[in-house]
Amino acid sequence: MSRLIAIVGGTGPEGSGLALRWVRAGETVIIGSRNPQRALRTAAQIAEKTGAPDRVRGEENASAVAAADVVVLTVPFSGQAGLLKQLKSAFKPGAVLIDTTVPLAAAVGGRATRTLSVWQGSAAEQAAELVPKGVAVAAAFQNLSAVLLDSEARVECDVIVCSDDDRARQVASELAEKIPGVRALHGGRLENARIVEQLTALLVTLNRKHGVHGAGIRVTGLPNQAMRQPPREED
Ligand SMILES: NC(=O)c1ccc[n+]([C@@H]2O[C@H](COP(=O)([O-])OP(=O)(O)OC[C@H]3O[C@@H](n4cnc5c(N)ncnc54)[C@H](OP(=O)(O)O)[C@@H]3O)[C@@H](O)[C@H]2O)c1
Repeated sequence: MSRLIAIVGGTGPEGSGLALRWVRAGETVIIGSRNPQRALRTAAQIAEKTGAPDRVRGEENASAVAAADVVVLTVPFSGQAGLLKQLKSAFKPGAVLIDTTVPLAAAVGGRATRTLSVWQGSAAEQAAELVPKGVAVAAAFQNLSAVLLDSEARVECDVIVCSDDDRARQVASELAEKIPGVRALHGGRLENARIVEQLTALLVTLNRKHGVHGAGIRVTGLPNQAMRQPPREED
């Protein structure tokens, strides 16, 4: 399927790591930034690493969003709401937004092992309030370490995808499984993103306790094709 993916905040480690993996997998990515020169620099680095300059470019965030079918938001929580308000008019009708934001207290000068409480319940639900009608939101990738993404290695992690929209869940799950080793899991409604976001603070603690940078999650006891099995209605 041919689609254009804009990564807003794609100059940071999480966004550029996802871009690297998706360009390697044959997807076409626009690195978005508040500063077009920074976007171009990151795009050039990814082009060099992947040998695919025709599948990655860099642009200012708004023009990246305006061109994209899928927008992936990879900015700190402190910038999430303001940026989405600025970008609201740029979204194509029918676009999908994949939110990776974790409301770590570190985003406002606190600890990376703690999260902030978000009025809407989660950063992803806040994002869903701020995008135009017709833009479907999925939450994913909050537990996937940028250090793992920026390597050649398989990423032996699950990505829990939460959404109220089947198409958004499908797109996020397909993109997750473009990363070798990753299994996408149907995580139910968007409101479950609050649980997934909290797990990241725990993963930061585990990284510190064990002196690593790539702690992730694997859920056991599920059928192989867990993505294809939506939770029962009451879940
Ligand atoms: N790093 C990880 O391992 C990891 C793992 C899972 C989830 N996450 C989540 O993914 C998101 C991105 O993580 P990251 O480590 O890549 O973050 P980051 O390096 O702090 O920021 C990513 C990019 O966001 C832009 N940005 C920074 N502050 C902003 C603001 N106030 N307003 C608008 N844009 C701003 C910057 O791009 P420009 O200056 O070029 O615009 C920056 O390069 C975070 O919410 C994080 O919690 C991270």
